[in-house]
Amino acid sequence: MSDASTPVHVDVHLPADWADEAMSTDIRRAFTGHPKTLPPMWLYDDRGSDLFDAITRLPEYYPTEAERSILGRRAGEIAASTGADTVIELGSGTSDKTRTLLDAFAETGQLRDIVIMDVSEQTLRDAGAMLGERYEHADVHAVVGDFTRHLRHLPKGGTRLIAFLGGTIGNFHVEERRAFLGAIADSLEAGDSLLLGVDLVKRVSRIVDAYHDATGVTEAFIRNVVTVLNREMDADLDADAFDYIPFWDAKEERMDLRLRARMPMSARIERLDLDVEFGEGEELRVEVSTKFRPDRLSEELTDVGFEGLEWFTDHAEDFGLVLARKA
Ligand code: SAH
Ligand code: AVI
Repeated sequence: MSDASTPVHVDVHLPADWADEAMSTDIRRAFTGHPKTLPPMWLYDDRGSDLFDAITRLPEYYPTEAERSILGRRAGEIAASTGADTVIELGSGTSDKTRTLLDAFAETGQLRDIVIMDVSEQTLRDAGAMLGERYEHADVHAVVGDFTRHLRHLPKGGTRLIAFLGGTIGNFHVEERRAFLGAIADSLEAGDSLLLGVDLVKRVSRIVDAYHDATGVTEAFIRNVVTVLNREMDADLDADAFDYIPFWDAKEERMDLRLRARMPMSARIERLDLDVEFGEGEELRVEVSTKFRPDRLSEELTDVGFEGLEWFTDHAEDFGLVLARKA
């Protein structure tokens, strides 16, 4: 399907009910599993996407500006080193920082196609329109989909750079991360590249503050998932009966963001014909945000078939961008 009102191709390869189907599968698994664990994708309805955008402007949330500063200094080098004519951004959100990267590609005259993929359709459409206006010599494709399920819907051809920015790779659990990086490698041809943004291990209090901000925006973002479930799954979970529990897991080196039931309670998820129980103190695991050490992540990338890794960091070494070439 193509949106004729803008020069942007909005590709909806999926049936209209794909998100309902996927959400039903994910939520049934989440609420019948032990411990109860949600996939973070369902945090991003329109309100969730707006709340994430607000998070990126919080004084405590350092990753966005750190990554922007690296892109500002290194985008030209990245464009030259990859030689890519097609830039594909996964989990693109507003694609705000991506302009810094794309400007460098556009300046060399090498940029032919821009592809953005996100589950949040309105955010994707807005970003597509913005990119279409800014890069009039490139074709912009906006692909609605889940990057864990729909990489096959990305357009083929060209010399490609897949950009996965913002540290979103940290929101995967370990085994899922390996599978995802493997799937990205499989979707690329030899000589194509991956640019991965990762939040680095650092002083724990700075990390915790980024997820426990003074104004409570992050808490609202995490709690919003209950509103999404109640609306989309016709459920009656009581959002106010949970406490927000953000904590640093020192062993896994990740933030762990949970909602903890203050009292025993039961809820009905009508669309799944499912009754769920929470014991007092039982937790719903909503999101992890892993922080990385470059050596270990480099190993994970070479294990799945990348080579020629180049690391770039900001002055404070808060954040890293790793550029890797498909062998
Ligand atoms: N890349 C941006 C946005 C990061 S927020 C930045 O660096 O600031 C994470 C983004 O990934 C959101 O826009 C969310 O809608 C999207 N997202 C999360 N899980 C997804 C999935 N499984 N498939 C596609 N998009 C997803
Ligand atoms: C999208 N992702 C990298 C964010 C993070 O920092 O893990 C999501 C987020 N969750 C709470 N604050 C920000």
